[in-house]
Amino acid sequence: GRGVNISALRCALLDWFRQHKRDLPWRTEPRDPYRVWLSEVMLQQTQVATVIPYFERWLSRFPTIESLAAASPDEVLKLWEGLGYYARARNLHRAAQLVVHEHNGRLPDSVEGLLALPGVGRYTAGAIASLAYNKRTPALDGNTRRVICRLFAHQTDETAWTLAESLLPEENPGNFNEALIELGALVCTPRAPRCDECPLKPFCAACATGAPEAYPQPRRRTAQPQHCVLTAVIVTGSAVLLAQRPTDGLLGGLWEFVSSELRHPPNESLAEMVQRRLGMDISGAEVHPLSEVRHAFTHFRVVRQPWLVYLAEAVPATRSEGYTTCAWITFESVDSLALTRSDQRIWAQVRQRVLWSGL
Ligand code: ADE
Repeated sequence: GRGVNISALRCALLDWFRQHKRDLPWRTEPRDPYRVWLSEVMLQQTQVATVIPYFERWLSRFPTIESLAAASPDEVLKLWEGLGYYARARNLHRAAQLVVHEHNGRLPDSVEGLLALPGVGRYTAGAIASLAYNKRTPALDGNTRRVICRLFAHQTDETAWTLAESLLPEENPGNFNEALIELGALVCTPRAPRCDECPLKPFCAACATGAPEAYPQPRRRTAQPQHCVLTAVIVTGSAVLLAQRPTDGLLGGLWEFVSSELRHPPNESLAEMVQRRLGMDISGAEVHPLSEVRHAFTHFRVVRQPWLVYLAEAVPATRSEGYTTCAWITFESVDSLALTRSDQRIWAQVRQRVLWSGL
């Protein structure tokens, strides 16, 4: 439609893809649905170069959906540690258990069946159905959406799914979707698209306007709120107190040094915070400030204000308010738990200090 020669467009894209496709570890033939699923989940909000080592490590530990389903939630999180958006790992784990118990271990092959799995949205369902099972269904994420909007010079993406579907060939639609993904990653980039290298340049309405980067219209950025979080790294002998965050919600199931919540009572002191959350009295302890650690989440930023708290002897925690549990962990065992990224950075500071002072 729309005066675009669709079969010429398809050929141009597929020829380009044949020549330029990257050799990535999830692109093994024949396609393994589990690898496609895992890679698509890992690649959400995360760059290919970051994903590759995680992908390889995950598959060597969990080579099958069955082995993933049988794992403990703590081990699953540990393998995801540092990749961010941890709900993805929890959902993969729950979905693997569903697939084993309700689908005989085989990932569903329809968009509807896939959408019923936790953590699988329209993009991921379309990507798995098309890439792994060669179903003729679009898969639009931020990248492919941008390619489609530019092709048709649409500033809004409201009809992008329909447009994408109209481009899909009957034969090998999965290959076509992956070619669109690759074009969005390598050529049709958000800023400074490489139109001179683009196989779709002759078909692209946005390129013809001379300002392809104006499509789709960028969303306006609003100021991001910033939250200060007080943190107590409580140490005694060669053990440190860690607490496990509640399973659901931000950084769910990960371990951290005892901290205030994002919106903690104003003007609360470190000792008051520890008293409130753990029922532990640290008022007699020696306390040293550590360096601030900043971390950006999707919609807000966090500034961690960590303090090193030396206790002469272990004091029991009498509760763990807002945590699943807390525990004294020996220094050598800290690395075996899944810590948040900013807690890893706090721990690196403490380790350096402890080595330095011979504590
Ligand atoms: N980003 C999202 N899906 C991808 C894929 N299959 N290959 C490369 N990058 C991607």
